[in-house]
Amino acid sequence: MTPPDYEYLRKLLKDHSGLDLSADKQYLIESRLLPLARKAGLSGISDLVQNMKNGPASQVAQVVEAMTTNETFFFRDKVPFDHFRETIMPELLKARSGRKAIRIWCAAGSTGQEPYSLAMCLKEMAAALAGWRVEILAADLSQEVLEKSRSGIYSQFEVQRGLPIQLLVKYFKQSGEFWQINADIRAMVQHRQINLLHDFSQLGTFDVIFCRNVLIYFDQDTKINIFNRLAKAMEPDGFLVLGAAETVVGLTDAFQPHAERRGLYRPSGKRAVSAPGGAAMPKIVAMAAGC
Ligand SMILES: C[S@@+](CC[C@H](N)C(=O)[O-])C[C@H]1O[C@@H](n2cnc3c(N)ncnc32)[C@H](O)[C@@H]1O
Repeated sequence: MTPPDYEYLRKLLKDHSGLDLSADKQYLIESRLLPLARKAGLSGISDLVQNMKNGPASQVAQVVEAMTTNETFFFRDKVPFDHFRETIMPELLKARSGRKAIRIWCAAGSTGQEPYSLAMCLKEMAAALAGWRVEILAADLSQEVLEKSRSGIYSQFEVQRGLPIQLLVKYFKQSGEFWQINADIRAMVQHRQINLLHDFSQLGTFDVIFCRNVLIYFDQDTKINIFNRLAKAMEPDGFLVLGAAETVVGLTDAFQPHAERRGLYRPSGKRAVSAPGGAAMPKIVAMAAGC
């Protein structure tokens, strides 16, 4: 791969998925895209780049998808799901007792372990939720992971990562070497391709947004822009859940950390944006205003 090929791919990935690759990630591109090039009968990355410049948009989408990191597992990091059961749901059960409806969005749900973990938590509290309408929207940029999520089929290895054995026995059926999550749990989750870089205001507002382990791949301006739009997609008393290595602190005033629950954020009601550096402020404000 030539330096111009690398620069072309870096810019393309930043523009299409937000992925912010540093100048020394050639190995990552090669390990992810060489199999794609070979499958298409091409000799290497340079040929792939030439093809993309002249080829259909689907080729770009394939490259963007191949570069996403889809690592996930059931009840990943445990604590967010404790927050969900012990803080988020009890508060929402009180706050929404009038309309009896709750909307949850897994904004980078990957192959489904995160949204289905939430669905199982909800199933476990079925008695308290009798008569309620609970919507879980599992979204991702990648069609491939969404297809797997829709199927709800996981390998032995995948069900052994994070999933308590009682929940495996209760909510999955074994079929050969694979396990499929039961149809009633699958039916609790809607799937949709949503790119966080694009306008998502048409989705309406949510009570809970899980947006975990995706913003770490983006640069600061992109994170700020997404946080500000997530704040608008959230009920004023809603909850944002981020990954263990992610925070809003120093990036935006639109959310504030929960006083006692690490990784949990609430809308602050402020629209103002605190920029990490004075110079970036006008651009960030313009981006937020344009959303
Ligand atoms: C590392 S996984 C995280 C999965 C899950 N949230 C978790 O924490 O276990 C990140 C996911 O973000 C998705 N993704 C990457 N860029 C995205 C974008 N611009 N919009 C929506 N999803 C994106 C990837 O396809 C991938 O499935």
